[in-house]
Amino acid sequence: MRKIAVVNMKGGVGKTTTAIHIAAGLASRGQRVLLLDADPQGNVGHTLQLRSQHTFEEFMTGDAPFDAVAIRGVRSGLDAVVSTPAGFSLERRLAGETQRETILSRRMRNETGYHAVVIDTSPAMNLLTYNALLYADEIVIPVGMDLMAVIGARQTFNGILQVRELWPERRLDLLAVLPTFVHSGNHASRATLEALEHDAAIGDRVFKTGIRQCIDLNYATASHQTIWEYAPRSRAAEDYSALIDYIEKSGIDIAQGERRYAATA
Ligand SMILES: Nc1ncnc2c1ncn2[C@@H]1O[C@H](COP(=O)(O)OP(=O)(O)OP(=O)(O)O)[C@@H](O)[C@H]1O
Ligand SMILES: [Mg+2]
Repeated sequence: MRKIAVVNMKGGVGKTTTAIHIAAGLASRGQRVLLLDADPQGNVGHTLQLRSQHTFEEFMTGDAPFDAVAIRGVRSGLDAVVSTPAGFSLERRLAGETQRETILSRRMRNETGYHAVVIDTSPAMNLLTYNALLYADEIVIPVGMDLMAVIGARQTFNGILQVRELWPERRLDLLAVLPTFVHSGNHASRATLEALEHDAAIGDRVFKTGIRQCIDLNYATASHQTIWEYAPRSRAAEDYSALIDYIEKSGIDIAQGERRYAATA
């Protein structure tokens, strides 16, 4: 089972959009996928128009079992667990728990019926993000194309490494640094891409084609659809399909023992 977390401490870089499309994309290719929203903003639920009586927060506190929080059949092969602003108080409520960074790993121990679990996270290194990082074994960092993006991506990567240093025996692969809002005719975009690719720590993990700036993604969100449902011939549909190709291929490499994506400090 693959466990992929989409992470960036910077807000508005396309994390939720990317998590939803990785999950829906893998599901559309016949995999059984779980999409977990570890962000109390609850944007996964808003985007796909999902409601549930029981949420991720209750799963974390142990108040609801997995069967109560899992929304089955969001799409063919795709289940989801949604979050609500109640999650903002989780940090305080979980304060007394021992090993509180690994609560998600422990709660998910028996949920082995998926080919992939994809986790959306919030733009902060909080307890929920730590839990996502210590559960996942592959990371995708979406990076918007502005001047501060490379710094933000590096900070995020360093934050991830620091968290994982506490649990050195666990696997961590940086699956992709994913340029988002790419506008090839735009100087800022070209300069950012170049700087990303030359970055010593993360440059060789950059998924070079990235996701182009595409207004259809906003319209898809507004109509509670994926880009493949809303505008299957759009640039973003093409780019996210290429990302899914890459993720499927890297899964085969990892299964064959080729850990080409292992992240080291
Ligand atoms: N490649 C793109 N082109 C155009 N719009 C995009 C693109 N990617 C995402 N968007 C839009 O940008 C907005 C922010 O994206 P998203 O919610 O995925 O970011 P986020 O990183 O999850 O934000 P937050 O940090 O608040 O959780 C959304 O309205 C989304 O539809
Ligand atoms: Mg988000």
